[in-house]
Amino acid sequence: MNGAHPVDEWLGRAADRHGTPCFVYFTAPIEARLNHLGRAFGGRFKLSYAVKANPNPALLAWLGTKVPLIDISSIGEMRLALSAGWAASRISFTGPAKREAELAEAIAMGIGELVIESPREAAAANAIARSTGRRQDVVIRITPDRVPRGFGDHMAGRPSPFGIDVEQTDAALPPILAMQNLNVRGFHIYSGTQCLHADAVVENYRNFIALFERLAERHGLTPDRLIFGSGLGIPYHEGDVPIDLDAVAAGIVPGLDALRASPRFARARFALELGRYLVGEAGYFVTRVVSVKQSRGSRIVLCDGGMNNHLPASGMFGMVIRRAYRMHKVGGGGDVEKVDLVGPLCTSIDRLGSGVDLPRLEPGDLVAVHNSGAYGLSASPVHFISHPMPTELMVDGEVLRAVSRDWTSCHQPALERTESHAAA
Ligand SMILES: Cc1ncc(COP(=O)(O)O)c(C=O)c1O
Repeated sequence: MNGAHPVDEWLGRAADRHGTPCFVYFTAPIEARLNHLGRAFGGRFKLSYAVKANPNPALLAWLGTKVPLIDISSIGEMRLALSAGWAASRISFTGPAKREAELAEAIAMGIGELVIESPREAAAANAIARSTGRRQDVVIRITPDRVPRGFGDHMAGRPSPFGIDVEQTDAALPPILAMQNLNVRGFHIYSGTQCLHADAVVENYRNFIALFERLAERHGLTPDRLIFGSGLGIPYHEGDVPIDLDAVAAGIVPGLDALRASPRFARARFALELGRYLVGEAGYFVTRVVSVKQSRGSRIVLCDGGMNNHLPASGMFGMVIRRAYRMHKVGGGGDVEKVDLVGPLCTSIDRLGSGVDLPRLEPGDLVAVHNSGAYGLSASPVHFISHPMPTELMVDGEVLRAVSRDWTSCHQPALERTESHAAA
């Protein structure tokens, strides 16, 4: 593409006013996604936003008014969600190695549900709940023995640190169900992510449903909470075809309705847990060209931001084949040529693309990397080589504002903050 992109005016304004590198998040595409998800599934799923995708506090606050549930995977994420205004009762807590201090803080803050990933964790949560005189709501994370082909990353179907393997449930579940201070409300499955194939996602959800039914029956449970890990992917690279959400819905709605029709599941809340599909395509990473070097037949464009700000875009975040994210020259213009786009770090792995086709770039030009609203800044080694933190900006309607995060709320226990506010 060598013309201007529809968001270029905003990106140019963001870079000129707030400097580069920066991340710019747009709320309009997230809103459109939310509407599409609501329409496609006809309200059968409540959405649960996975904070790990993007924990920016302003984004969390905005999502708090649009999405009913939120999933955290560390106590730091819980603190961020609470400071962004989320009630603890709307929060669930996944993560395979939760520490006792994290469980204790989450329980003390009144977390909505713990996602139990092991017998050890169940015992620890039970003991903490008992010591504080509570009965804690939990769901049990099940790890299926298969994941259909087509997912970018698997958390199941092979040896896995996550959840309780389905083969182990006969032994593991009865003692957890007998724990006096845990109230087992249902099951959670997150088995694969970044899938662009509707058929594979549908098959995966069908596996979930079959497992939910089998386990509920076998253990005499009437679950009222079932969490489906969405697995919905986004088209990161040129040539990727977006997933057909309506085809996913058409494939799975009959299964959801059949499940709902069975008395055991009549009262169950179905939640869809997702991150990148909601926010990934709503964000851009904007970096400015610092210099250009012609080297041994390659045109190398050196930018002020790279893998230190955006590790996934450099292909170093679990990608088997390094392929450049979709990107464009802000404002377009110039003949398209092949360039290697690199960041400012003194390492050859700091590379946003090799042989990418972009309109001619000169120092001062801006490049926008797409799909940067999820797993961008917070998934990156920002301290490596000590460049200043990039700014984060949000475009909400016609308003552009700086929303860089303040990490202190992530490091200070929520209870202490509440107490110091009360004392002040
Ligand atoms: C337990 C769990 N929930 C939610 C997510 C979010 O996944 P995605 O951003 O692909 O929707 C992940 C991703 O790894 C996960 O492990």
